[in-house]
Amino acid sequence: MKLIDQEDVSVSPEHHPHFNEVVERAMSRRTLLKSGVGLSAALFMGGTLSACGGGSSGSGGTAVAPAARLGFAAVPASSGGQVIVPSGYSYQVMAPWGSPLFSTSPAWKGDASETAADQALQVGDNHDGMHFFPLDGATQSDEGLLVMNHEYINLEYFYKPEAGQTYPDVWTLDKVLKAQNGHGISVLHVKRVSGAWQVQIDSPYNRRLTGNSPMQITGPAAGHALMKTSTETSGRIAYGTLNNCGNGFTLWGTYLTCEENFNGYFGANSGTAPADASLLRYGISASGSGYRWHELDDRFDYELEPNEANRFGWIVEIDPFDPTSLPRKRTALGRIKHENAAMTLAADGRVVVYMGDDQANDYVYKFVSAGKYIEGNLANNRNLLDTGKLYVARFLNGDVSGDMMGVGEWILLDKVANPVLAADARFADQGEVLIKTRLAADAVAATRMDRPEWVTVHPRSGEVYLTLTNNSGRSVTDDANPRTDNRFGQIIRWREAGGDAAALAFEWDLFVLAGNPTPAAGQAGLNLGSSNVTVDNTFNSPDGLAFSPNGLLWIQTDGSNANTGRNAGQGNNQMLVADPVSKEIRRFLVGPDGCEVTGITFTPDQKTVFINIQHPGENSGPNAVSDSLLLTDATAFSNWPEGEPGITGSMGRPRSATVVIWKNDGGVVGV
Ligand code: FEO
Ligand code: CA
Ligand code: CA
Repeated sequence: MKLIDQEDVSVSPEHHPHFNEVVERAMSRRTLLKSGVGLSAALFMGGTLSACGGGSSGSGGTAVAPAARLGFAAVPASSGGQVIVPSGYSYQVMAPWGSPLFSTSPAWKGDASETAADQALQVGDNHDGMHFFPLDGATQSDEGLLVMNHEYINLEYFYKPEAGQTYPDVWTLDKVLKAQNGHGISVLHVKRVSGAWQVQIDSPYNRRLTGNSPMQITGPAAGHALMKTSTETSGRIAYGTLNNCGNGFTLWGTYLTCEENFNGYFGANSGTAPADASLLRYGISASGSGYRWHELDDRFDYELEPNEANRFGWIVEIDPFDPTSLPRKRTALGRIKHENAAMTLAADGRVVVYMGDDQANDYVYKFVSAGKYIEGNLANNRNLLDTGKLYVARFLNGDVSGDMMGVGEWILLDKVANPVLAADARFADQGEVLIKTRLAADAVAATRMDRPEWVTVHPRSGEVYLTLTNNSGRSVTDDANPRTDNRFGQIIRWREAGGDAAALAFEWDLFVLAGNPTPAAGQAGLNLGSSNVTVDNTFNSPDGLAFSPNGLLWIQTDGSNANTGRNAGQGNNQMLVADPVSKEIRRFLVGPDGCEVTGITFTPDQKTVFINIQHPGENSGPNAVSDSLLLTDATAFSNWPEGEPGITGSMGRPRSATVVIWKNDGGVVGV
């Protein structure tokens, strides 16, 4: 995201007990990156591990099949107002912001004059993480439930300016509520009819969850004193889910939405900065991120409701097949600025969820359930995410066997079992450890990373891949985060000891250091990128990341669209596909101006891929001033997706939307 771009500002304390501070070492690692394919090809070719998790949509995880290979013509980098896909592919746009879900939904107006009540019946803004659930729960590839996150709102085009005014307008409670209703989740029943995907209006599955929808709080922090507010005294019911960024899905057919920059919605009318260490560590400030909810909605004023913020920052599990079900905030998975959640299985059948905390110099986590997954036994599986162990990662430098770059360990965040936390009076109990996950991770000296974004698990090998999007604030390097002022980002991957996702040790490697090898861009050293970065695939800021079931790695970017200077030749934000064996990376798609590319999911037959175009036309300049210019100058911003396939009529303003892509010959995408 750009508008409320707080992720690049570290609020992590200074400590580096395990870091190698020698930049030269990073340079030697670059030599290693240049020297070969890194991880053993054999591991990626077949199911050599005992536990094959469901890390990707529809993954079979059983066959020892040859890994897929890239089979499309690379798309050149470009700037422009359209989506670009490879030759031989087609796409359509679907479900843009403001689309109806029900026959009672107001039609898109185009001037943003919709009310809060209108928005509650329309698709939300800023489409992000997304998953396709086949309607038959198995292999159906032409009809399903498309569940998507709406991360935030674009203040610069979310409201209709009052006559004669520019943003900020007359501020009303309805505007606050409209914004809350523009957030959350859409569950859309979608179907391919005569070759075109459509939302099935009035399907009983269609559902909007918003910033006000009731949700259950479950797990160790449920009912905790720090989860209670003046109006919700049980600490077991939360209202709404916010800043839903990346996503995950479970082996039992539910959706995981991830609450990221929740801090930005809170503020204080008094203007007094927070005094509480936890509020500060999560980045809460008196003015928030410009949403202004606290001005008119008391629960977002942290002086009036100091615990309300504790009820955000969780993984929330949603059953899309039961529209009446209450979503569940699963506190056992920790409270961070969650990016996404990648589920797999441990060797003994316990569930493992990998998660990143997207902020400069924050951490990587994994949850290991206490109970074991039993296929087909929903009664057993449905609450597996309520009980288990939460770990945070420490990436260590050092010599390792073979071609890996370093080793690592998982540190248990448990009030009783971890002596550091047991002795720390800031945590009264495990509930407080989880509510203040960041503080607990600080206390055990986890490794500060370059903004951990999406995690994904290879469907056969169980190797874990993670995007580290960028970190302009890094001044001290280590092997896993080898660049100061990191503007390009990297993808790190690791192999758990014994191939067991529940292991407490791992070996890691850098899959790619993004960079710019274009001489005119003036980059040098590590900023040229690793050997698998070329003038043909150069990119910055990897963010969305997912394996397709056939083992191709899909990489989406959320970085600079400038296409000049250090970003010369990189064009707009994009999607690339990588072969984890050869490490080859090829550009598959370029997004329209101003957008990021995010949210990726496949039909089980892998012949259709859905992605999201988020915040097309977004102004990346300082918001308060330039946004008002944007609102009053219709020529200043794009109207994407106006004119795109699948879209009719005038947009009036840019709209986040889903893009559905398929191969013209009906084959599997990417190969
Ligand atoms: Fe919402 Fe870290 O991207
Ligand atoms: Ca993201
Ligand atoms: Ca991002």
